[in-house]
Amino acid sequence: MTSAKQTLDIDLGPTGRPVQDFPQPQPLSSHGPARIISMVNQKGGVGKTTSVINLGAALAEYGRKVLLVDLDPQAALSAGTGINANELDVTVYNLLIERGHDAREVIRETGTENLDVLPANIDLSAAEVQLVNEVAREMALARVLRQVEDDYDVIIIDCQPSLGLLTVNALAASHGVIIPLECEFFALRGVALLVETIEKVQDRINPRLEIDGILATMFDSRTLHTREVVARVVEAFPDKVFHTAIKRTIKFPDASVAAEPITSYASSHAGAENYRSLARELISRGGAP
Ligand SMILES: Nc1ncnc2c1ncn2[C@@H]1O[C@H](COP(=O)(O)OP(=O)(O)OP(=O)(O)O)[C@@H](O)[C@H]1O
Ligand SMILES: [Mg+2]
Repeated sequence: MTSAKQTLDIDLGPTGRPVQDFPQPQPLSSHGPARIISMVNQKGGVGKTTSVINLGAALAEYGRKVLLVDLDPQAALSAGTGINANELDVTVYNLLIERGHDAREVIRETGTENLDVLPANIDLSAAEVQLVNEVAREMALARVLRQVEDDYDVIIIDCQPSLGLLTVNALAASHGVIIPLECEFFALRGVALLVETIEKVQDRINPRLEIDGILATMFDSRTLHTREVVARVVEAFPDKVFHTAIKRTIKFPDASVAAEPITSYASSHAGAENYRSLARELISRGGAP
């Protein structure tokens, strides 16, 4: 009888599995070289940029030195961290295309301690076409990041919603990939193509690349629909789905307007706690130091 009762008493987390708490990370005694992570989904508006900023800020709160790389010509990451990238003469675009720049001179500090940004602006929209004729065109970003990887513990790359050459550059430079999925009915559409692309990059240019996890975003616990979508994702990728899910809340768009991570904009809000939990989960899985 007790065992049946115990089974019923187990708290299920947002992903339908028993709740897990992840330990507080140990402080680091030294920094670098960085583990590089790409935030990728070719579907638009699934929470890539929001996750890059807030996972980065949560890791920074835990004392990790973090660099966020804006690899989207729309430059939402740069804007969302308070950088007016349209005023910049040199951005990630110039580092990718031209020789002789120092990446350290392009990197900007943010208002958050330990959190820096390599900014982009609309110039980057020309990069794909220009890179096509380069030798080792898939390795341009890896070459840029090599200049600074010893300065950071984690580098997170914000990709644009496409599987084009910029995204392939991100995958080629990375150790890991996080795939954010919005908890909506068609969430899994396109994931097979994404996984195929990741496998091609593993095969041909970057054997160390691994999928760190699939992140359920815009989770609304009040709807059965959300839970059903997440259950299907867990069924499709049993070991890959993070136990942490990110709830849907207006605080995220509010924080972007304020150009701040939610961890400082609304520090005790559940959305901020979600990204801290994701940071602890990632560290406990070995996805970040
Ligand atoms: N958990 C959330 N709850 C509510 N709104 C969210 C959440 N996460 C992101 N948003 C909002 O949804 C919109 C899209 O998010 P975001 O820009 O992070 O997605 P994206 O995948 O980077 O989009 P794109 O593919 O266009 O780059 C933004 O307005 C953002 O503020
Ligand atoms: Mg984005």
